[in-house]
Amino acid sequence: MAYVLGLDLGTSALKGLLLNEAGHVIYRASAEYPLIHLQSGYSEQEPSEWLKACEKVLDTLNEEVADFSEKLVGISFSGQMHSLVVLDEKQTVLRPAILWNDVRTTKQCQKITATLGEKLIQVTKNKALEGFTLPKILWLQENEPETWQKVRHLLLPKDYLGFWLTGTQHMDYSDAAGTLLLDVEKKEWSQTILEAFAIPSTYLPTLIDSQGQTGNLKANFIEKYGFKQTVKVFAGGADNACGALGAGILNTETGMASIGTSGVFLSFEDQALPDYQGDLHLFNHSLPNTHYSMGVTLAAGHSLSWFKETFAKNTSYDELLSGIDQIAPGADGLLFTPYIVGERTPYPDSQIRGSFIGIDTKHTLQHFAKAVLEGITFSLKDSQKLMEEVAGKKFKQIVSVGGGAKNQDWLQIEADVFNAEIVCLTVEEGPGLGAAMLAAVGVGWFEDLPTCAQTFVSYQKAATPIAENVAKYEKQYALYREVYPATREICYELKAAD
Ligand code: XUL
Repeated sequence: MAYVLGLDLGTSALKGLLLNEAGHVIYRASAEYPLIHLQSGYSEQEPSEWLKACEKVLDTLNEEVADFSEKLVGISFSGQMHSLVVLDEKQTVLRPAILWNDVRTTKQCQKITATLGEKLIQVTKNKALEGFTLPKILWLQENEPETWQKVRHLLLPKDYLGFWLTGTQHMDYSDAAGTLLLDVEKKEWSQTILEAFAIPSTYLPTLIDSQGQTGNLKANFIEKYGFKQTVKVFAGGADNACGALGAGILNTETGMASIGTSGVFLSFEDQALPDYQGDLHLFNHSLPNTHYSMGVTLAAGHSLSWFKETFAKNTSYDELLSGIDQIAPGADGLLFTPYIVGERTPYPDSQIRGSFIGIDTKHTLQHFAKAVLEGITFSLKDSQKLMEEVAGKKFKQIVSVGGGAKNQDWLQIEADVFNAEIVCLTVEEGPGLGAAMLAAVGVGWFEDLPTCAQTFVSYQKAATPIAENVAKYEKQYALYREVYPATREICYELKAAD
């Protein structure tokens, strides 16, 4: 059986996932790279590091998989979203990439919002947030005009990697949607936005579907690894789109709750786009002509790791969470809000901070740990609620991925808070699987992505809502909703006094 390779260009590492036609993993290889933090709020990365990492991954696969060079037929990508890569007329990188988690652009976001008014959400379906690409372009125009003068090409990370492998520049719709330069419904670069900010359209790459072929692996790679056949390269998608694809989020009845450092609640959107007014992100999906909406909890896994490091450093996660199933839903009157680094959804607020409310002498370390898990889950429910209220969604099942899926008690909390059947992936591979699926469809193994998902994605039942717990959590969640407005001004004042 032939192989396809999914390359997931993340924030800290590039992971390669080699799969065969049956969807079985043949090999996993990864290589890390550093982040550059020049000052608080800045986050950059050298694009050359991604290329070095990719070469290491290809070298490893070539060394470890005996028939790699005979059997690889297709490559595709998943990439960290929004991060800005700038090239000059010779297609050479001009400066380090400014990453999605860099927040230096508050002023530029205000300028975008003031300049475009209602047009911004009408065209891009999203609000201007610090992480997105357009504010980074404006920052470059204003703060490094000599670099901006030399810019001729604007790319995102995975597209730069694709360019290195094929020699062609493309960007798929799911990643283009995160630039704030795409007319999300028309699927074309927005002339209105480009003109408003003096960005020549020639700087932007050709738009393409995620499963579309962008070229073939260049001759130097064919020679180096001794490939006997043409290796086709496909555009790939944004990491959230590929993560959703790899979790089988291809219908409106299945949602996804993902817990990494940050958390995401994500849902599939078909033809009629709901008017979320930018309260949720709304991006093009990697399945052609569809979209997905998502809300982000900035500190999801981060809240738990912060809590453990601060209050139970020498305790393992297993110990910390053991026995929390013996504590009633609601942690016996203890409530946590996970705003420890600010929040994105539903409150785009960088100044808000977290709270424990209702602390009592009866509360133990385990109560606090349970309250942390509940608070993170309530924050994801905020996004679920927006989808239900604005778009009338009703999720039959929710796929739990990441940290939440690793603990049975947390899975039960998810079932009870979301009031939905929770399933986990039989084998969880993350966005790299979505990338490999795009290559699998691209090379023609499957007619389309839903057919591919039937072979590549499978679930196991994880938790079912318990009616009594659901009722308790409804009450606790209503109280949780009161904490943000009640603590906002206090947090601002505390920050000002700091
Ligand atoms: C999405 C976002 C992150 C990045 C991480 O808007 O900023 O999820 O995609 O790579």
